[in-house]
Amino acid sequence: MPELASREHLRAIVPVVRLALEEGKTGYAELAAIAVTSGPGLVGSLLVGLTFAKALSFARGIPLIAVNHIEGHVQAVVLEAKQQGTPVEFPAVALIVSGGHTHLFEAREDSSYRLLGKTRDDAAGEAFDKVAKLLGFGYPGGPVIDQLAVFGNPRAVPFTLARMKGNALDFSFSGLKTAVLRWTQARDLSSEIRTRKELLAAHPRPTAEQWLAVTPHSTLDVLASFQRTVIEELLRRAVAAAESLAARSLIISGGVACNTGLRAAARDQSLVFPVFFPSPALSTDNAAMIAAAAFPKLARGEFADLSVAASANLPLA
Ligand code: KG4
Ligand code: ZN
Repeated sequence: MPELASREHLRAIVPVVRLALEEGKTGYAELAAIAVTSGPGLVGSLLVGLTFAKALSFARGIPLIAVNHIEGHVQAVVLEAKQQGTPVEFPAVALIVSGGHTHLFEAREDSSYRLLGKTRDDAAGEAFDKVAKLLGFGYPGGPVIDQLAVFGNPRAVPFTLARMKGNALDFSFSGLKTAVLRWTQARDLSSEIRTRKELLAAHPRPTAEQWLAVTPHSTLDVLASFQRTVIEELLRRAVAAAESLAARSLIISGGVACNTGLRAAARDQSLVFPVFFPSPALSTDNAAMIAAAAFPKLARGEFADLSVAASANLPLA
């Protein structure tokens, strides 16, 4: 609900910025710049952030830096890896997987990017969310499916990977989503789904034990098989991209990068290049990643002026 989202932004932005300065024990006078997301995203929410940042920049005389949301997901990993003493080596392939994006980029040292492939239909996180909704697990779907998939057999349901003509580095998840829907329709799951909805109404965040009490083995198997297929689809194309470019690292970021199955599968591949994930707190959307992406721009003096516009579909490459 975009309209509600922008109103919530409007309500939250002043107290959130105030709290950030307070907890950071800093003030406006100490800020080198103000970094703000200019796109892509819901345009109403982008406008709230951008207008607030412009006003602050103008009133306080602090330079403004416009950041692409997706670059934030990439640069959070680059900054964190550097701080941990194991810097990302370039060229890198970046897989950005969230509720809105499933994109593969070539990322170069000078923070320039080339789009290698993207989803033709649903984003990976969206597929998690739709499957969870279909089976009565609420929103967001990724964390609960991740939590329950370990209790099912990932080979129980033989879902297959998408086969497509054209760019071999594009993704597709709508076929898999339809396969889960068909699996569900072939059985009568209405009573177990109803029980889960009742659980959700009584406990907004059920524990694994609570979910397991209302979820039979066959449904755990379908969750595990669905997650296994998404992971295979993601890693197969990301690894193919990294190999074809002779990339020196693979970066995986965005909300779906929290997925423990994806992290374990990437570790198990024994690849010739290292795979970098953000710490879980920096995987889903956050403000620190926008500051991280602004840092190299600050060093290069790449500032925005007050004419910078919010762009719902701002391309990275
Ligand atoms: O990056 P993000 O916070 O927001 C967007 O820009 O979309 O990503 C949110 C998405 C949701 O679709 C959510 O279901 C998914 O990330 N997600 C996960 C996990 N945690 C969050 N998907 C799979 N496994 C997880 N553990
Ligand atoms: Zn995001």
